[in-house]
Amino acid sequence: MNQSQQKVALVTGAGAGIGRAAAKALLKGGFQVVLTGRRLDKLEQAIQLIGGTSDNCLAVACDVGNPEQVKTLFTAIQKRFGRIDVLFNNAGMGAPAIPIEELSYEQWMNVVNTNLCGAFLCSQEAIRMMKAQSPQGGRIINNGSISAHTPRPMSAPYTATKHAISGLTKTIALDGRPFNIACGQIDIGNAATEMTERMAAGIIQADLSIKAEPRMDVDHVGEAVLHMAQLPLESNILSMTIMATNMPFVGRG
Ligand SMILES: NC(=O)c1ccc[n+]([C@@H]2O[C@H](COP(=O)([O-])OP(=O)(O)OC[C@H]3O[C@@H](n4cnc5c(N)ncnc54)[C@H](OP(=O)(O)O)[C@@H]3O)[C@@H](O)[C@H]2O)c1
Repeated sequence: MNQSQQKVALVTGAGAGIGRAAAKALLKGGFQVVLTGRRLDKLEQAIQLIGGTSDNCLAVACDVGNPEQVKTLFTAIQKRFGRIDVLFNNAGMGAPAIPIEELSYEQWMNVVNTNLCGAFLCSQEAIRMMKAQSPQGGRIINNGSISAHTPRPMSAPYTATKHAISGLTKTIALDGRPFNIACGQIDIGNAATEMTERMAAGIIQADLSIKAEPRMDVDHVGEAVLHMAQLPLESNILSMTIMATNMPFVGRG
């Protein structure tokens, strides 16, 4: 397949963890991959680690919560590839597990900006390109969480933004229909990344006890994202949950 026939995927937060695993799977699946995150060195390292080259990968530094930087990112994609087929809105973060009344406005806004505004801003730019390009359309995959369904203790900013992502997913899935734009959400539980190291060490439970929780290999998540990404646009996985089999979630604990 020559490069102009290869599909183009953008992964946010691709320098580590789930984003890097998804970039790896998408590359293996034949996509040209744009990796973004705030630290360019992490993105370049990630390209090396996943076996990418400057022919099939592009690293662009961007804070997804910054509208100007997001515009610059999409200008770079337009210039290099002229289209976008898949956007994986993955960049995300949490706040310290402290009571809601002790959270600073800044701690709240950091999470809202990255997890929610970031997904909104990237989706908005992607939709503009997807509507204008020929063939028209594309797919947006939002990274929710099992926190999009039920919270951990003391996780208001994270849980609130992940619930909001479900609304964003459904709205884009609805509004995208006339333009061949599909939108789905992957809800992950305990993939082994830097973010979940504290779960292996011992994390606060609903009854306020501290317990270590099982995690799963992050590459399983990458493969699941590829599965969603490579469906023909007539089909959409609206919602997928992938979790460590034995983690507390199902069964009220
Ligand atoms: N791991 C899990 O089990 C799990 C479960 C449910 C949901 N999730 C979701 O999966 C996503 C990725 O999690 P992860 O475990 O892979 O976390 P991670 O290892 O901490 O990686 C997060 C990545 O996002 C980037 N990032 C953070 N803020 C950003 C911003 N404002 N703009 C651009 N990039 C940003 C970081 O790179 P820079 O610091 O260089 O920007 C980093 O590469 C998050 O949305 C998280 O909520 C994860």
